[in-house]
Amino acid sequence: MPGRPVAVVTGASRGIGRAIAIRLAPTHEIVAVARDAARLDSLAAEITALGGTCRPAIVDLARPDAIHRALDGVEADVLVNNAGVITKKPMLEFTPDEWHRMVDVNLNALFHVTRQLLPGMIRAGRGHIVNIASIAGRSAFPGGTGYVATKHAVLGFTESLMLEVRQHGVKVSVVMPGSVATGFFEPGADMSWMLRPEDVADVVAGILDTPQWALTYQVEVRASNPRKQGPGGQAPA
Ligand SMILES: NC(=O)c1ccc[n+]([C@@H]2O[C@H](COP(=O)([O-])OP(=O)(O)OC[C@H]3O[C@@H](n4cnc5c(N)ncnc54)[C@H](OP(=O)(O)O)[C@@H]3O)[C@@H](O)[C@H]2O)c1
Repeated sequence: MPGRPVAVVTGASRGIGRAIAIRLAPTHEIVAVARDAARLDSLAAEITALGGTCRPAIVDLARPDAIHRALDGVEADVLVNNAGVITKKPMLEFTPDEWHRMVDVNLNALFHVTRQLLPGMIRAGRGHIVNIASIAGRSAFPGGTGYVATKHAVLGFTESLMLEVRQHGVKVSVVMPGSVATGFFEPGADMSWMLRPEDVADVVAGILDTPQWALTYQVEVRASNPRKQGPGGQAPA
């Protein structure tokens, strides 16, 4: 009996990536990529208890050599480029290290991980890459020179890649969430009005579930009624 298709999920140790890994586990073997070994082990244990398979891959995505070592030989049917970091501050307060780290994780890692896994998909004549961008990929906010720039770049990367590889049977999609209740926000922040990580995971699963001849390229996901849920009405995002 053929095994389940393999789904590589980056940033799977917590937040949206963890929810995506759990959502895809009933139908996919999961390769869970992040730095935090303990959290990845706990994810793998949860997926195993549910009857699935999950292999942790402990990688700092800012290091191309580590990406290459960890994913060498992996034949992926699905790749979810989800890992991301945010530093919000005025442009002049960024140190070069902070700037480069955000660009490395949010953008350059997409190049390195995709470059590693895409050839196998093209050889197989099938595959699906889903990149997690953000509504910040088409809008801006003060303090966002770094984060907003990387998410705009993710959109450009994703659309160009989609146009390049669809004739090889490989689909490429992008999901643009609004605010999602994760560690992206300060401890103590009111997250009651936000999307849940599981909501984004459901959208990713839906995108993967389209018929072979159809490609859902871009989906924006927002909380359906943030004012209803937030005390006094939060600014919707
Ligand atoms: N939360 C939101 O409101 C929101 C909205 C729109 C888009 N997004 C996007 O959604 C994605 C996931 O965000 P989230 O909210 O789930 O954030 P999160 O809870 O902070 O999780 C971020 C994930 O990225 C991983 N990661 C960070 N740096 C890494 C590195 N150097 N190497 C490997 N893994 C790394 C983390 O794992 P380790 O720390 O274990 O390495 C963690 O698993 C990001 O791309 C983000 O831009 C989030």
